[in-house]
Amino acid sequence: MIVVGPAIKTFNLTKRFGNLVAVDHINIEIAQGEIFGLLGPNGAGKTTTIHMLATILKPTEGTALVGGYDVIRESKAVREKIGIVFQDVTVDRNLTGYENLWVYGKLYGLAGGVLKERIFDALKFMGLEKWKDVPVRKYSGGMIRRLEIARSLLNEPEILFLDEPTLGLDPHTRAYTWEFIRRIKKEKDVTILLTTHYLEEADALCDRIAIIDFGKIIAIGTPDELKWLPVLLIWVCSGVFDYLGYCQHGLLPRHLLTYRRVIGSYIDGHH
Ligand SMILES: Nc1ncnc2c1ncn2[C@@H]1O[C@H](COP(=O)(O)OP(=O)(O)O)[C@@H](O)[C@H]1O
Ligand SMILES: [Mg+2]
Repeated sequence: MIVVGPAIKTFNLTKRFGNLVAVDHINIEIAQGEIFGLLGPNGAGKTTTIHMLATILKPTEGTALVGGYDVIRESKAVREKIGIVFQDVTVDRNLTGYENLWVYGKLYGLAGGVLKERIFDALKFMGLEKWKDVPVRKYSGGMIRRLEIARSLLNEPEILFLDEPTLGLDPHTRAYTWEFIRRIKKEKDVTILLTTHYLEEADALCDRIAIIDFGKIIAIGTPDELKWLPVLLIWVCSGVFDYLGYCQHGLLPRHLLTYRRVIGSYIDGHH
């Protein structure tokens, strides 16, 4: 089926864990072919959002369309269209790169020559063909991340979720991994939703970014829009509020503080 319209659209997507509202009435629309970033600090609700879109977690309220299908009512159809790289490493370190992909491909119902070909293509695409028969415990952190991305491509997804794809990698390896993510966008027909807490990463990769904190989207735009337009205003205002001690009394909206923290770390990083 050819899907017209957005790759992902959420409708007041919400997840509560007891009293905690982890994701709070999120409304975003991601166009086909876009790389969209969810940027926010730890605990902001990024992983929970991805898990709901990937049909791993059921929303408490609201819903979303992924690849034109409803994540609650049509979860099976959604799963056929997506690939996912989880925040935490999930490959088996005792298996080789090839074996890891083989097991995963089997889970997707792939077999025989098709599976073999897809594995070779994916490993080659991610620059791992020479390492295919080496146990993953001998891989570097960056190689493991690339193997996980290779694995997520096996079922030729239309939509790819990358949850903190460069978490814990050194800056050089991170930039190297970005090149592969850019190549996926360029050479494969996929929409990518990635999460990160580095503005630098969102800036380097994403067409558009949503800043999220305490489960709420607090700003959406292109990296340039988010970086520069409101920055001065927010920077100055929040600095003054901060100086006057308002934030300690809870008078400064938490969102402003988040925005300032995220943008600030980026600006500091460029000094
Ligand atoms: N299974 C769970 N049970 C209870 N609380 C959870 C669960 N998963 C996540 N949370 C809480 O939800 C909030 C959002 O978490 P998460 O989506 O993992 O944030 P992020 O990925 O942005 O770091 C956090 O406060 C986290 O502690
Ligand atoms: Mg997370």
